[in-house]
Amino acid sequence: MNHTNGRPDGPPPAVEARDLVKHYGDVQAVRGVDLSVAPGEVFGFLGPNGAGKSTTVRMLTTLLTITSGHAHVCGVDVTSDPDAARRRIGVALQEAGLDPRQTGRELLILQGRLFGMSTADAGERARHLLALVELEDAADRRIKGYSGGMKRRLDLASALVHEPEVLFLDEPTTGLDPASRLTVWEEVRRINGRGTTVFLTTQYLEEADQLCDRLAIIDDGVIVRRGTPAELKADLRARWNRDGEPTLDDVFLDATGRTRERAAGEVQEVSA
Ligand SMILES: Nc1ncnc2c1ncn2[C@@H]1O[C@H](COP(=O)(O)OP(=O)(O)O)[C@@H](O)[C@H]1O
Ligand SMILES: [Mg+2]
Repeated sequence: MNHTNGRPDGPPPAVEARDLVKHYGDVQAVRGVDLSVAPGEVFGFLGPNGAGKSTTVRMLTTLLTITSGHAHVCGVDVTSDPDAARRRIGVALQEAGLDPRQTGRELLILQGRLFGMSTADAGERARHLLALVELEDAADRRIKGYSGGMKRRLDLASALVHEPEVLFLDEPTTGLDPASRLTVWEEVRRINGRGTTVFLTTQYLEEADQLCDRLAIIDDGVIVRRGTPAELKADLRARWNRDGEPTLDDVFLDATGRTRERAAGEVQEVSA
């Protein structure tokens, strides 16, 4: 099968999911998700708690088995070739697993060594990444003294050690204060500006609005809206019977409100 998205000579999508499903026993966490993320995009996966965001990310990143459907990263099937898929991607998950006794630099060098780099190369890569996420001054302090924002930035850096083509971030700013959130946004923009595709989950509408080229809203395991932030607002504007311009908040409320009707079988899924 070819995964070039209809462009025979173009690169394959950075991320592609077809009818992705995950059941945990009786819980239908993800119920048929279709996604296609172009190389170089920042793609936002927005949804309330329990919507199925982390489950989807874990399937896309080989961390969780897929109940049914298909997922590819950079054209590689994550089920049939998980090792090759893992080499193309970096992942920073919601529960960061940082050792508080290490320094930031030690952590990054260790990661590089785990990816097979020499000590010298791993040291050079660590220096580069510490500069990228603006942690040079804190590089040789123990992680236990880092703020929440610094830990998230170190986590971003550690997901980039092997120069992945696609970076998955699961709620990178949840629980951060507003100033730290802005710093993480800056780092995400900078990483994307260097050519890395970013797949980001968030509960924050403003974050999706500020960072994402395109986004999908997932609720109860199903994608209920997709498009650019501007398209989503324009779509709601066309049905809007109030004054003023709809915000992404309004889109989100509208989208998740319609899921109650969906339970009654009335709502159609929006396709790209
Ligand atoms: N290991 C698990 N076992 C059973 N149910 C789970 C498990 N992980 C997640 N779920 C359920 O799957 C649904 C989606 O969860 P999740 O993907 O974590 O959502 P989100 O990341 O959007 O908050 C929720 O109903 C959650 O309770
Ligand atoms: Mg989650």
